[in-house]
Amino acid sequence: MSNIIIKTPQDIEKMRIAGRLAAEVLDMIGPYVKEGVTTEELDHLCHDYIVNVQKAVPAPLNYNGFPKSICTSVNHQVCHGIPGPKKLKDGDIVNVDVTVLKDGYHGDTSKMFCIGKPSILAERLINVTQECLYLGIRMIKPGIHFGDIGAAIQEHAEKNRFSIVREYCGHGIGQVFHEPPNVLHYGKKGTGDALKAGMIFTIEPMVNAGKRDVKLLPDQWTVVTKDHSLSAQWEHTILVTETGHDVLTKRDEEAI
Ligand code: MF3
Ligand code: CO
Ligand code: CO
Repeated sequence: MSNIIIKTPQDIEKMRIAGRLAAEVLDMIGPYVKEGVTTEELDHLCHDYIVNVQKAVPAPLNYNGFPKSICTSVNHQVCHGIPGPKKLKDGDIVNVDVTVLKDGYHGDTSKMFCIGKPSILAERLINVTQECLYLGIRMIKPGIHFGDIGAAIQEHAEKNRFSIVREYCGHGIGQVFHEPPNVLHYGKKGTGDALKAGMIFTIEPMVNAGKRDVKLLPDQWTVVTKDHSLSAQWEHTILVTETGHDVLTKRDEEAI
């Protein structure tokens, strides 16, 4: 409890820049996320853009030994998918998760893409998961508790007969990629720390169409659903302000 860093105005200015850059990577990569592209190609495009255009660093690369610059999680992959030589095909859904390190500060965001026409189930899962993120964000203001956010997200997912992954969560973020607190996407109202202006953290719900159980693949990174059901995730980096919140990784296409 209470080891959550409160950012200074100087920190916040740098976090705004890092957040904007991360959002811009997702905007840039969108047109390439099409049938026949490999996730490795998406990784190279993002890597080169972050390094050569943004003059920034892709934070995942070599983070605890992660071998690539972005995470790409396809269909029943929940998170931390490693980009590889497999081509995306019609009907696939894929999460692209980008973390940019600029001038010592991190911006972390992810979105879902559909290849061609998704199934009705895939589309509903993707939409409900985004609603989970947005309703969590909309609650954010000083004085509410982290448990309030988790409870609301869990309630929305379960009301739609989906399940929330428990093993992975959102996180504080700043000069450190993953810092306190753990931001759970489930829980009980009124529990956990109270939010204060100047906190910055991610919300990044992982929602499964089937059971909530996950397993780690032998590559030691890729997390998949145990029952092979589809999984979706959306992520933003959010600042708590005196009056509410500011989504540091918001894209122009979004009305949050
Ligand atoms: N971007 C992920 C998150 O949202 C973390 C990826 S860590 C990596 O927290 F090593 F897998 F890249
Ligand atoms: Co994150
Ligand atoms: Co992320």
